[in-house]
Amino acid sequence: MPEVTPRPDALPLCAAGELVERGQALLFDVLLWGQPARAFALRYEGRVVAYINRCAHVPVEMDWQPGEFLDIDKRWIVCSIHGASYEPLGGHCVAGPCGRGRLMPVDVHEAAGRVYWYPSRDVRPVIFDEPAAPFSPA
Ligand code: FES
Repeated sequence: MPEVTPRPDALPLCAAGELVERGQALLFDVLLWGQPARAFALRYEGRVVAYINRCAHVPVEMDWQPGEFLDIDKRWIVCSIHGASYEPLGGHCVAGPCGRGRLMPVDVHEAAGRVYWYPSRDVRPVIFDEPAAPFSPA
């Protein structure tokens, strides 16, 4: 299948090799509905997926160590608070107190050895301030 070029609004996330199969997730800062939030990207069955790091049960971050989301069998994304389990490729709740909930996906794209993410109406990039100009007396 030919590799599709990322859209112009793609934002660079990391080198593709940084996300190893069922390995540690990459955490990144975003604005969710205008508020600071954290997202994560991980590789599962060869695909890169990304979600907002926010459980569907209670809106808290889920990783049991920074960037560690998968259970001991590396099968499900698990919330460290009360054990909700999510299907990694779709983010749907499969067990635990998350009901019919789903993790909020972040659109990602992998091309030419790089991983990109796409902002949406709800999930925006964090804009860091420009460094202040050096003081120069008048
Ligand atoms: S906060 Fe995630 S399972 Fe309760």
